[in-house]
Amino acid sequence: MISNSFRLEPVTPAIGAYVHGVDLASDLSDEDIGRLRQAWMEHVVLFFRDQPLDCGRLQALARRFGAPHIHPQGDIEGYPGILRIHVDGDSKTQPGRTWHSDVSCDELPPMGSILHLHQIPDTGGDTLFANMYAAYEALSEPMQTFLDGLEALHASRPNVEGYYRMNAEQLRDKSFPEAVHPVVCRHPETGRKALFVNEIFTQHIVGLEPAEGRSVLDFLYRHIASPKFHCRFSWQVNSVAMWDNRCCQHIAMWDYYPQTRSGHRATIIGERPVAAA
Ligand code: SIN
Repeated sequence: MISNSFRLEPVTPAIGAYVHGVDLASDLSDEDIGRLRQAWMEHVVLFFRDQPLDCGRLQALARRFGAPHIHPQGDIEGYPGILRIHVDGDSKTQPGRTWHSDVSCDELPPMGSILHLHQIPDTGGDTLFANMYAAYEALSEPMQTFLDGLEALHASRPNVEGYYRMNAEQLRDKSFPEAVHPVVCRHPETGRKALFVNEIFTQHIVGLEPAEGRSVLDFLYRHIASPKFHCRFSWQVNSVAMWDNRCCQHIAMWDYYPQTRSGHRATIIGERPVAAA
């Protein structure tokens, strides 16, 4: 339920808002969901404190915003659309420790993700978010026009093989989606243009020579990494972050080894990205 103390507290002028006065485990009315969705579209990422959500509650909350996105590497058994996010002293890597938009390699990439953490390190493990509308809008007009007409290939296999260092046996039953998406997409709800390439999944720009495409992508990744587009969220037990993958990227800090950071992410399916031009 949304209470009378409902309030949005922006994190930075660029992106993010803390939401006060909402119990995400309660039965939210359609009007409550409408208010949250409006705040989400405006601020791109919303943050909540003190929300004890188990997998079932998290799944129910996510379904109010859309159908579950089934992760190609497998969700938690019995909870389609819910992914375990867990790193401890035995982990060889941490998912999401490079700027990215979740599973952009799918034909229908997730519109949003809702992450709940129930175990956090003593310090560290923050998540940073970058506003892809603002990153696009900060480019010169000629650069915007150039990018508006381009498409890029997104693929998961290089990430899964390289990043997670899976061997042939571990890779055998996995699926590796890939898809071509516009480099600049028009957001289906706000109508705004947003950059849609990221370091984890984007492989190359269609139609450019490899060296040309590499230079363009490297420039965009440096541009996206500018702190002026960012906010940074420090987790507490039972914090929740919900982000819009269509207009932001995120990166999770792995600066707490060998401590444990653990939670669940609900991922919500989106629509096919549409070119902005
Ligand atoms: C993710 O990339 O979805 C995980 C983000 C996080 O662990 O903070």
